[in-house]
Amino acid sequence: MDRIRIVGGRPLVVTIAVSGAKNATLPLMIASLLTEQTLVLDNVPRLADVALLQRILGNHGVDVMVGGKRPGDSLDAGQTLHVSAARIVDTTAPYELVSKMRASFWVIAPLVARMGEAKVSLPGGCAIGTRPVDLLIMALERLGATIDIDGGYVIARAPNGLRGGEIVFPRVTVGGTHTALMAATLARGTTVIDNAACEPEIVDVANCLNRMGARISGAGGARVVVEGVAKLSGARHAVLPDRIETGTYAMAAAMTGGDLLLAGARPEHLQAALDVLTHAGARIDVSDAGVRITRNGAGLSPVDISTAPFPGFPTDLQAQLMALMTRARGTSRIRETIFENRFMHVQELARLGARIQLDGETAIIEGVERLKGAPVMATDLRASVSLVIAALAAEGETIVNRVYHLDRGFERLEDKLRRCGATIARISA
Ligand code: EPZ
Repeated sequence: MDRIRIVGGRPLVVTIAVSGAKNATLPLMIASLLTEQTLVLDNVPRLADVALLQRILGNHGVDVMVGGKRPGDSLDAGQTLHVSAARIVDTTAPYELVSKMRASFWVIAPLVARMGEAKVSLPGGCAIGTRPVDLLIMALERLGATIDIDGGYVIARAPNGLRGGEIVFPRVTVGGTHTALMAATLARGTTVIDNAACEPEIVDVANCLNRMGARISGAGGARVVVEGVAKLSGARHAVLPDRIETGTYAMAAAMTGGDLLLAGARPEHLQAALDVLTHAGARIDVSDAGVRITRNGAGLSPVDISTAPFPGFPTDLQAQLMALMTRARGTSRIRETIFENRFMHVQELARLGARIQLDGETAIIEGVERLKGAPVMATDLRASVSLVIAALAAEGETIVNRVYHLDRGFERLEDKLRRCGATIARISA
């Protein structure tokens, strides 16, 4: 298994190009199941999760063609995928595949909408919490699907097609909103989704669906209205920049006292995180080129925040902020309100010398003068990258184990960090 070796103490300088967003790419690829025509996606990041979803979709009969290099292309340009679900040959998504990536459960929506049936394995628990799918199932039922759960599989049927309905989510769910949106595009009549997730990735997917001929209005707000259409067509769409990757490198720059331009970043997609960074003592400058973050070596101030659905502080940046706050002058409090078990990084940060106590859903972080390198490992993607951030500021050598977590969601992480001054290398097994 690959490992990453980091020697801390070097500030991050110059530029990192932000990749396309993983959490938009995955539902966009899944949305290809809604049409027999080809969906062309630009700015797709080269990630293990994208490759895995390609395999999962392949099982349903979807062809994914990766566009070749074009003149002037650099690695910083994302890839172009041509995704074609001309003929769906299998409406079952087996446990072996769904259990590897939870988001693949979302195929249930386009499959039942287009084919009238879908049999999709329940994804099971994961490292950050139980993560049920009851609200996704509720949304499909509200659109007229009948649901059976049998042998660990959810079987959704709508032999005469879905029909529009009212869906009120009792809590904000990103996956629930993606599912409801995709299903409603091909339902007969009007669907109203209340308490919808407002994340930029929802808006990106809705924009793409509209390009495919869907009639969605209000995406990005809490009430989304979908007028169903009989068929969707192909389209071409560029994936939006990854706000979590942006926020992660912004924290890394604040941690190392660097001066870093995050090229192509969309600041309005992570305003809450930029505000927290400003409070903590970083300077943020926004320009057409992206977001520039500087810290001149003065100490970091502690913060007191809670994670929340967009536009609040994202749970996907909680671990990274915690890493940053291990070096603050004073005590920070970070409350995780989205996932009940998303503190697996705490014990690993402690191995680097962090002082963190857990009190229910709150982590209390007492800033320390210095961190010291150590071997560490993590259990999920964002937790792993929080260890990288801490390691960049730690004295001496840190070895991060289980690098495959990072490969799921950060494109060429060590390459991007090395190019802006970090001492970081992958050790291949
Ligand atoms: C998406 O997961 C993201 N995944 C997650 O990113 C992200 O952390 C999360 O949204 C929150 O922003 C993708 O986009 C692929 P939810 P999702 O449904 O859709 C509860 C990363 O690191 N809930 O918004 O699965 C749920 O347990 C990942 O990139 C129910 O109770 O998250 C959680 O407490 C990890 N019943 C809350 O809602 C349901 O049926 C929000 O979950 C569905 C969700």
